[in-house]
Amino acid sequence: MKKVLVTGGTGYIGSHTVVELQQVGYDVIIVDNLSNSQPDVLENITNITGIKIDFEKFDLADRKKTLDFFKRHKNIDAIIHFAALKAVGESVVQPLNYYYNNLFSLMNILQGMLDNNIENLVFSSSCTVYGQPANLPVDESAPVQIALSPYGNTKQISEEIISDTVRTSKLKAISLRYFNPIGAHESAKIGELPIGVPNNLVPFITQTAIGLRDQLKVFGNDYPTPDGTPIRDYIHVVDLAKAHVIAVERMVKKNSKYPYEVFNLGTGKGYSVLEVIKSFEKVSGIKLNYAIVERRPGDITEVWADTSFANLELGWKAEKDIDEMTESAWKWELALYNNRKKTTK
Ligand code: NAD
Ligand code: WQD
Repeated sequence: MKKVLVTGGTGYIGSHTVVELQQVGYDVIIVDNLSNSQPDVLENITNITGIKIDFEKFDLADRKKTLDFFKRHKNIDAIIHFAALKAVGESVVQPLNYYYNNLFSLMNILQGMLDNNIENLVFSSSCTVYGQPANLPVDESAPVQIALSPYGNTKQISEEIISDTVRTSKLKAISLRYFNPIGAHESAKIGELPIGVPNNLVPFITQTAIGLRDQLKVFGNDYPTPDGTPIRDYIHVVDLAKAHVIAVERMVKKNSKYPYEVFNLGTGKGYSVLEVIKSFEKVSGIKLNYAIVERRPGDITEVWADTSFANLELGWKAEKDIDEMTESAWKWELALYNNRKKTTK
């Protein structure tokens, strides 16, 4: 049984990936400092898969603790590195926290890999590296543009750190550039758990519909798009999770074409903010309270992925459509609501 270390495995994308890994027979160990996730996610994963998970809680930015972890775990075949801080707006006001957390964690993991002959790394990157691309759909050869936030910059610098390390060692790596992950596992036992007011569109929609927020603010309808609202490539988190399993398999079976590879993970289709709202209203039967307000600074007009490289090389294709995404997100919000009701009784 191959063993995979999943950093950030109690987080949103990590937890869905752990489920997919376990379901195809990988032995998983999670490291997470729970700075943006809850320990009961571990139990919820086990409820889905029937398999218990090894878990260690510590900060991967702590070099001593991270290297000590690797000394105690010699038999790791691959690492999926999700752990990072990810709030774009917060990164603008706390840049050093973001550089410290995201870059030291990565460098500590890479050092641990080199010291212990662990060769396979999958890294969570982001379509944010493309900024507003000149050509759409955007493929992996598009230039990386000056980052619009310290968060985005940590992804660009991380990709460079990985590429430099691969060049001078036996390390192999795959960076996966996610577009906009949304939705939740069909069981509604795991999903996105934003702390405080959500920054992202879909959690804000579902929290408004459930009554936690008064009104969704649509940030601008004067963009040069068909309905005036920005367009993104939303991808179901379970489709995304499955791509990680394939990436791990590719490296473990030594099928990588190059020591360092980069893939876009999206659906290849773009939806506007108003189209996402429409999809949500259709699947939930709820009329959403929203208002058009000013643009949000830093937002780009439109982006969607050219996924042909991932389709061809990984043999992976996103399967779930926008309605399945919004429906699963809504089912998850309803499950959270029912849990809150139970605990306040
Ligand atoms: P998340 O916040 O739900 O999960 C990240 C997990 O990492 C959390 O559980 C957090 O507690 C943990 N963590 C953070 N810093 C840590 C540290 N120093 N040591 C140990 N654990 C630490 O985020 P997510 O949405 O699941 O994102 C996973 C990865 O994907 C991140 O690297 C993120 O930047 C990237 N990404 C996310 C999106 C998105 O829209 N969600 C898009 C593109 C890329
Ligand atoms: C989507 C659309 C908003 C909230 C962010 C990061 C990116 C990546 C994914 C990590 C935009 C509009 C949103 C609201 C709105 N993460 N919106 N009202 O900005 O595409 O990407 O998450 O790597 O780096 O920047 O996602 O969900 O915030 O916004 O109108 O309350 O929804 O303007 O057009 P975004 P998002």
